[in-house]
Order: sequence, then C-alpha cells, then structure tokens
Amino acid sequence: MSNLLDPAIEAAWAYERLHVNALFRQWTEPVLAAAAVSTGMSVLDVACGTGVLARAARSRVGPRGSVTGVDIGRGMLSVAESIQPDIRWVEGDAGELPFDDDHFDAVVSQFGLMFFPDPVRAIHEMLRCLRPDGRVVVAVWDALERSQAYPLSVDLLDRRAGSAAAEALRAPFALGDRGTLRGMFESAGATVTSITTRHGTATFPSVRSMVEADLRGWLPVMGVFLDAALIESLLTESEEALSQYVAPDGRMIFDAPAHIVVAQV
Ligand SMILES: C[S@@+](CC[C@H](N)C(=O)[O-])C[C@H]1O[C@@H](n2cnc3c(N)ncnc32)[C@H](O)[C@@H]1O
Repeated sequence: MSNLLDPAIEAAWAYERLHVNALFRQWTEPVLAAAAVSTGMSVLDVACGTGVLARAARSRVGPRGSVTGVDIGRGMLSVAESIQPDIRWVEGDAGELPFDDDHFDAVVSQFGLMFFPDPVRAIHEMLRCLRPDGRVVVAVWDALERSQAYPLSVDLLDRRAGSAAAEALRAPFALGDRGTLRGMFESAGATVTSITTRHGTATFPSVRSMVEADLRGWLPVMGVFLDAALIESLLTESEEALSQYVAPDGRMIFDAPAHIVVAQV
C-alpha cells in the first residue's frame, strides 16, 4: 500500500497507464528491427522507463537471450519490475552506465536521449557497452512544430501554468533537428549508418486523457507538480483548444513523427 503514497511511483504508473499505449508502444518494433534484435541476443535498454521496449525485446530474444533495462528514475523501475520481474532492472545514469565494456549484442533507447544532461557522453557510454559488431539504435521525437497537438498544449501551459510546465512539455522535442542529432553521434565517435524519420500516430481515448497524461503522468516525472484546481481548469480549456484533433468516435488522434538513428562503433 505504501507504494501508492510515493509520488515517483504514482507518476510512473500514470505514465504507464496514460502514455505508453498512446505514444510509445508503436516504436518498439521499428527500434528492435533496426537493431536486428533476434533470438538469443543480450540487449540493453537505456532510459527504459516503465519498460515497454525492454519487454518487447524480451519477447524477441526468447529464453536463451537476456534483457537489461537501466533508468535513473526509481519510480519508473519500480513499475517496470512489478510488470515484468524476469528482466534485470538497474538504477543508473545514462552518462555513466554501470556495465562492462563490449557487454551487449545491441543497445537500444527510445525517447530518453533528450533528457540526458550530456547526450554525447551517453552515446559514448552506449557504444562502450556494445560488442564490436552490434548496433546502437536510438529514437527521438521530431521537432515540436512537426508534431501535431503538442504545440497547442505547450502554448496553453505557457499562458496558464508558467514556463516550467511549458518547458517540461517542450523538452521531449529538443533533438528534432537531424543535423544536430547526427553531429552528437559523430562527436561521440559513432559511425552513423542511418537516420530515418518515421510517421507515428498518437492515439488517446479522449482530449482529457491526453492532457491528463501530460499533467499527471509527465510533468511530475519532470519535477513539475500543478495543483488540483489548475489541472481541472486546464483539462476543461484543452477540450476546446485541441478540438480539431478529435475523431468522430471521441478519440484524439494526431501525427507524432520520430527519428530513428542506427549507429555502430
Ligand atoms: C519519455 S521516458 C521514455 C521511457 C521509455 N524508454 C519508453 O519508451 O516508455 C524518458 C525516460 O528517461 C529517463 N531518464 C532521464 N534522464 C536519465 C538519465 N540521465 N539516465 C537514465 N535515464 C534517464 C527517465 O527517468 C524516463 O524514464
């Protein structure tokens, strides 16, 4: 019961419940395919969050393979462990991965790189832990202006909840420029095999669930906690501000493109 009182664990459950199906699950297969993850391999998922990519990797590698998920967030790892205990979940910083050199057949990471204080160092760390023939595959969101709905949400937060809340929602899109992204990998000593921009679709059950996902699931992960009255009024205002993305069945559906980088030592 005490877990329910831990804000980090509550936020991670909200992230898993509200965000993972709507946005993140669709990227697991393209990322694992790009990394050529197959039966028997050992795979590291960096910034694993609640573990959606690591769980998909587990299914691909089968009983002869192994998967390790590393994340800095204790709440995220606690949820990951509750969902799938037979993966090795490790608390650690992407800038200083707690693994030996040449250890994994593949290193994957989706939607974490933009949050690391030193992304070049983190890429260098991923390459260090990778066996010589393996691939590092990293997914990041395309730029905010090439996504739909989020520019309007960021604008609403800027006006009504302040710059810290708006920045927390802008942060996931910080590596949308492909040239900057390539430059980071090259600075880390990687050979970039490809950068592919893929169409993605965000599908939330309603406008309310999308905005709740951000206000209750994402902002707290970024250390921004809004009071209950403000959350309620933002949820009400969003219904109108985001109405153009509501499908006839009430779901909220919009474009959410991302880049997938494939790199080697
Ligand atoms: C948007 S979530 C993505 C989680 C997961 N990869 C997914 O697809 O659902 C970003 C994750 O990056 C983690 N993170 C942020 N900074 C980190 C760091 N320096 N080292 C490791 N993980 C970090 C956060 O705790 C969070 O779980």
